[in-house]
Amino acid sequence: MSTRVNILEGFERTPFLRFTSYLTARQLDGKEGKVLFGATCDGLPAGLLAISPDKDQKSGSIKSLFVDTPLRRMGVGRLLLEKAQEFASQSHWEKLGVTWFHDALFAADIEAFFKAMDFSAPKTNSTLFRASQALLEIACETRIRESAPGITMFAWAERTAADEVAMKDLKEEHEIGDGLHMDGETFLPISEETSLGLRQDGRLAGWMIHHHVSADCVRYSSLWVSPALIGRGFGISLAIASARRQHAVANEIPRFTFLVANNNDAMHRFVSRRFQGGALDSTSKILQSEKILNHQHPAR
Ligand SMILES: CC(C)(COP(=O)(O)OP(=O)(O)OC[C@H]1O[C@@H](n2cnc3c(N)ncnc32)[C@H](O)[C@@H]1OP(=O)(O)O)[C@@H](O)C(=O)NCCC(=O)NCCS
Repeated sequence: MSTRVNILEGFERTPFLRFTSYLTARQLDGKEGKVLFGATCDGLPAGLLAISPDKDQKSGSIKSLFVDTPLRRMGVGRLLLEKAQEFASQSHWEKLGVTWFHDALFAADIEAFFKAMDFSAPKTNSTLFRASQALLEIACETRIRESAPGITMFAWAERTAADEVAMKDLKEEHEIGDGLHMDGETFLPISEETSLGLRQDGRLAGWMIHHHVSADCVRYSSLWVSPALIGRGFGISLAIASARRQHAVANEIPRFTFLVANNNDAMHRFVSRRFQGGALDSTSKILQSEKILNHQHPAR
């Protein structure tokens, strides 16, 4: 069997996109600097590996990896990763990272593969929570702080052009990503029905933005309050108030997900205190592993 790996350009990608999810394919589409490697066995598509540079451009991450089931354990994954590492080294990336769900269908295979390829032992970097009606009902029963002198919440659908400009400025000033997801996902439509904003003295001072990830599910993507308001209960209140808005449209959008980074102790405490006993549908830990790349730095 002859196995080859090539960088895929333009329409060459199409036969390989069945090796990744629709969402990942769309996410990759909007990513600058992404590179897709396609493996063929005897000329037929056998696997796909996609990488893209991290925000700092000094390192990169694997965004997708899949080898066709009948062709596993034949060195296809190894060849894909070797080509990706070659590219990463030539790009002078310091390391290549990868993340996966601890309960993914092939999690054990993924872990064994990256161990064999000398990646670091996996560590949990965040947790994805999936929820629906039960949690929305808890939100409806929870007391929140909706206003204070000079501070009001408003439906994101009623944002003004000034709010949009303020959000853009705040995102730049405070380096806020477009989503809670590591990469943000600007292509996902905002859930106008459920997202909320916060104004202080007429100026935008926070938001809880939801994105549609499918017809019946939104992701609570970006929760932010201005540093001056931290510790006054508005962050959690925004999240809960947005869940109440979702409760009002739960017939159409019953499900939601949210991601909590490992180092966000306050949110983890809040989740474990408030959402016990079946309120959550499921949780998945996101595991992270990386490999430091040894390459020759150009002479200075
Ligand atoms: C992980 C994956 C890419 C490995 O691809 P592969 O082509 O089977 O890997 P290789 O044959 O190149 O394996 C290289 C080495 O990794 C290790 N390895 C790979 N799969 C393994 C497994 N299931 N168990 C133990 N070791 C494994 C072995 O050491 C192997 O070398 P060997 O076969 O000489 O012993 C493949 O199993 C896969 O696509 N899994 C599904 C991934 C997925 O779900 N992706 C979507 C979310 S990211």
